[in-house]
Amino acid sequence: MTWRIAVAGTGTIGGRVAAELGAGRVAGCELVAVLDSSSDDTVIGEALRSADLLVEASTAAAARVLLPRALDAGLRIVLCSCGILADRSVESDLRRRGAVLGADVLVPAGAIGGLDILGAAYRASVRTPGRTSVGTSDCTAGGCAVPEVTVRHTTTKKPAALGVSAILTEPDVVFRGSAREAALAYPLTSNSSVALALATTGLDNVEVVIVADPAATSTRHRIELSSSVGRYDFAIENTVSPASGGRTSEITAWSVIDVLEKSARSRTPVMTRFHSEVIQGH
Ligand SMILES: NC(=O)c1ccc[n+]([C@@H]2O[C@H](COP(=O)([O-])OP(=O)(O)OC[C@H]3O[C@@H](n4cnc5c(N)ncnc54)[C@H](O)[C@@H]3O)[C@@H](O)[C@H]2O)c1
Repeated sequence: MTWRIAVAGTGTIGGRVAAELGAGRVAGCELVAVLDSSSDDTVIGEALRSADLLVEASTAAAARVLLPRALDAGLRIVLCSCGILADRSVESDLRRRGAVLGADVLVPAGAIGGLDILGAAYRASVRTPGRTSVGTSDCTAGGCAVPEVTVRHTTTKKPAALGVSAILTEPDVVFRGSAREAALAYPLTSNSSVALALATTGLDNVEVVIVADPAATSTRHRIELSSSVGRYDFAIENTVSPASGGRTSEITAWSVIDVLEKSARSRTPVMTRFHSEVIQGH
């Protein structure tokens, strides 16, 4: 069986994904439709009718419209604009529709990685006395065990990519807060923070630091997780797409393609395990 894919967005991510699909270089997947900002209601409807899965690589505003439409049409969706999940109204809408994160809604690791071991460390750490299973809020008579897992995600970009117009002479921390707050304050920069948070301690528990560095020529990520089973410290340096104004890393589209091919091959959605219960934190 071949998965029929519609792609929304023809920019840095969508353009690459559609090109690879169109060239037949994603095994088990076939490109059936491409949507952009000019696609009207009829075109969107036709695309959703013809596809099994929608790759959303558009904008946060468009994703808010396309996500429920795709789910209602029975499609799975790879959600690149995953920062919208930080909005509690989107989260409750998903819940109302019975959509399952990691099955119906796939969140690519995007510009970062290592989510497998970080998710495993989170899982191991929350299996402490007083917690019955991962992500549940059940408390026994012994009290609730708060998992001793701390996660910090530091993203460093050039100032213009963060909308910083001031002339900087040295790196400047422009934001420090939770992944949820980051997604709301810096929606174009925080999608990978949201993916990290969903894989680990949740949107309200991952600390996000955003740095504007006038000397930056790439986008840098530092991911630090400390847990009862180990400490992890990853450094990632991504080439940015020139066409994206320094915002989007080239690797992101390939992360989406990886999810598509692995999922098609195994005939089931394949992505880093997500603890869907932790959207709301603990
Ligand atoms: N998950 C991640 O790690 C990650 C990384 C980078 C970017 N992103 C997000 O992914 C999305 C795409 O990023 P990009 O860099 O490719 O953006 P881009 O600006 O290069 O392209 C955006 C595309 O969306 C299209 N579009 C706009 N409105 C649309 C609509 N209503 N319907 C369909 N298409 C529409 C535009 O035509 C354009 O082709 C953005 O929301 C961005 O914030 C996610």
